[in-house]
Amino acid sequence: MAYFVNGNEIFREARKHHYAVGAYNTNNLEWTRAELRAAEETRTPLLIQVSTGAAKYMGGYKFVKDMVEDQMDSMNISVPVILNLDHGDFESAKECIALGYSSVMFDGHALPTEENLAKTKEIIKLAHERGISVEAEIGKIGENQGGGELASVEDAKAFVEAGVDKLACGIGNIHGVYPADWKGLNFDRLKEIAEAVPETPLVLHGGSGIPEDQIKKAIQLGISKVNINTEFQLAFQEATRKYIEEGKDEDKANKGYDPRKLLLPGTEAITDKMKEMIAWLGTKTIDDELKDALFDRSSLNEE
Ligand code: G3H
Ligand code: ZN
Repeated sequence: MAYFVNGNEIFREARKHHYAVGAYNTNNLEWTRAELRAAEETRTPLLIQVSTGAAKYMGGYKFVKDMVEDQMDSMNISVPVILNLDHGDFESAKECIALGYSSVMFDGHALPTEENLAKTKEIIKLAHERGISVEAEIGKIGENQGGGELASVEDAKAFVEAGVDKLACGIGNIHGVYPADWKGLNFDRLKEIAEAVPETPLVLHGGSGIPEDQIKKAIQLGISKVNINTEFQLAFQEATRKYIEEGKDEDKANKGYDPRKLLLPGTEAITDKMKEMIAWLGTKTIDDELKDALFDRSSLNEE
């Protein structure tokens, strides 16, 4: 029976040894399978996470937990898996704690700092009683149209003192596709924060589309969790577009229109992209025992 680890040791090790572990969002069954497969084949730990919107789309937080667990069982997953709520509000963080997620992010960035800190403390109390890891956000992660805010060193210290296990910091990073005139990550601020909280794993949201050299520099300075969602959506979109543009969906004789076939190139593109990210981040392997044949392709031709 599958179970989730809270990942605290994994991320603290990563911070100590200057590498990162990716936090990969799931959006559906195919995403989940693609990510579990990449983790198992590379023998690396997996943090799989779900946003409030994606959970709603799939049928709720319980559905997501059950789906990930069942997929782990059916794929015989043997690497450690962390199930994290991504950008949760107060209520959803409490719900996921009660459901048995092994990690939750309480995102109180839109609240006044005092209130963000007070609510984060409440979540920490509830989560730590059950051995669940907590991530908080300080500053503000920007969106494609702008609007980011740098995290302060003072806030970093206060949130770490409050007991957060991981800390997401606004350092010029942006969710979604980076605009052409993006100024890059603010390494000076990252360095100041990292020096002020020398052991806490720091989280880089908006990990998609940041040039490799900047990701690597950020990891050297203290980033140990890199959140990635858009990168996989683009990989899925590109592969699916190619399949359709090549007319494969129109191949009636081979049932190219069957969703199991139609969604396969995109699903495989996510696995490939994740393996690429794992190499960029320098994620350490769990052991060297490699498993293959995680996904039974024979079902593609069954009725
Ligand atoms: O919390 C999720 C991430 O920050 C994903 O950001 O879609 O820009 O990769 P991204
Ligand atoms: Zn994020």
